[in-house]
Amino acid sequence: MLPKSQVLGVVCLLLVVLLGDHTAVAQNDVVKACNLSTSIALDLDKFAGIWWEVARLPSTTYFCTEVNITVLDKPKDNVLIATTYGVSPDYPWVNQTMNATLTVANFTEEQDGYNFTYWNPPNYSPYTLFKVLNTDYTDFAFICGYTNATDNGTSFGLVLTRDRTPSTDTLNQLEGNASANFPFNFLNGSMSAITQGATCYAPSSANPLTMISVFLLAVTGLLCLLEARH
Ligand SMILES: *[C@@H]1O[C@H](CO)[C@@H](O)[C@H](O)[C@H]1NC(C)=O
Ligand SMILES: *[C@@H]1O[C@H](CO)[C@@H](O)[C@H](O)[C@H]1NC(C)=O
Ligand SMILES: *[C@@H]1O[C@H](CO)[C@@H](O)[C@H](O)[C@H]1NC(C)=O
Ligand SMILES: *[C@@H]1O[C@H](CO)[C@@H](O)[C@H](O)[C@H]1NC(C)=O
Ligand SMILES: *[C@@H]1O[C@H](CO)[C@@H](O)[C@H](O)[C@H]1NC(C)=O
Ligand SMILES: *[C@@H]1O[C@H](CO)[C@@H](O)[C@H](O)[C@H]1NC(C)=O
Ligand SMILES: *[C@@H]1O[C@H](CO)[C@@H](O)[C@H](O)[C@H]1NC(C)=O
Ligand SMILES: *[C@@H]1O[C@H](CO)[C@@H](O)[C@H](O)[C@H]1NC(C)=O
Ligand SMILES: *[C@@H]1O[C@H](CO)[C@@H](O)[C@H](O)[C@H]1NC(C)=O
Ligand SMILES: *[C@@H]1O[C@H](CO)[C@@H](O)[C@H](O)[C@H]1NC(C)=O
Repeated sequence: MLPKSQVLGVVCLLLVVLLGDHTAVAQNDVVKACNLSTSIALDLDKFAGIWWEVARLPSTTYFCTEVNITVLDKPKDNVLIATTYGVSPDYPWVNQTMNATLTVANFTEEQDGYNFTYWNPPNYSPYTLFKVLNTDYTDFAFICGYTNATDNGTSFGLVLTRDRTPSTDTLNQLEGNASANFPFNFLNGSMSAITQGATCYAPSSANPLTMISVFLLAVTGLLCLLEARH
């Protein structure tokens, strides 16, 4: 038998390997940072509808996220975005919706992207900035932006798909394609996948095993932290 601290050491190392993030790699690669990219000219009617967030870099606490884009028939504030996300991993079937309206010109490139604030009851979010880097309208969209429009340290890359649960193979291909063109905001095959699927809105199908393993990971993480202080 190994001493307890050594076993814990191995487990902690494993945990770091499993959960370690890769943002450092992305940050070193300054090619085509989001601020230098241009938001492509969009056919608004084709871009409208339901999208699902399936991968993001760096990861956030958002999951089960749906983006609903509606084009309104008026000259200003003509695009309504409603983003619905899971409130807590403990009860993924409870969701919250935040919304925003912005002015988007049809078929027009936007060098500076779209800068707007979400109404996320009971507050407005900080101004966020989005740029649509590429889309085929029917399957995927690559988005980069800043979660805080006035802080370029909050840059992120996001893969949206029409299919809520694309296969791992499709996801890897999309990440490969995104990273080939926008290496600053996307990583090939190792972005954090966003939880999507049956557990999101259906309490009955919530998997208790998943919850137990999340709990165990959390406890082990805590033990690792405590151990590291010795
Ligand atoms: C664009 O962002 C990169 C990395 O965040 C930064 O080094 C560069 O100064 C920025 N360029 C402009 C024009 O803001
Ligand atoms: C998307 O938003 C529009 C406008 O609010 C709404 O009419 C539509 O029902 C929403 N779609 C879904 C699937 O929630
Ligand atoms: C949000 O949750 C409700 C049930 O509370 C569900 O009917 C609805 O489909 C969920 N929203 C989305 C976008 O799936
Ligand atoms: C945006 O959200 C607020 C608060 O939830 C709601 O009152 C409002 O009707 C929504 N706006 C649209 C256009 O859906
Ligand atoms: C955008 O332009 C396309 C192509 O000209 C057209 O089919 C579509 O109706 C336009 N949409 C809006 C919202 O103006
Ligand atoms: C976004 O809009 C806010 C509020 O108008 C402004 O303070 C901020 O400078 C803008 N950011 C960018 C990058 O345009
Ligand atoms: C956004 O960034 C600005 C500039 O770094 C900072 O002053 C502000 O507090 C940030 N807002 C939030 C909500 O983090
Ligand atoms: C943010 O932009 C400023 C000015 O363009 C640049 O000097 C700085 O390095 C950038 N910061 C980061 C974290 O990219
Ligand atoms: C990735 O790009 C290749 C080459 O352009 C293309 O054949 C493939 O369909 C793309 N994969 C996805 C999932 O879009
Ligand atoms: C992404 O990774 C896969 C598997 O490792 C590899 O086959 C593919 O060529 C990579 N794509 C890019 C753009 O680096």
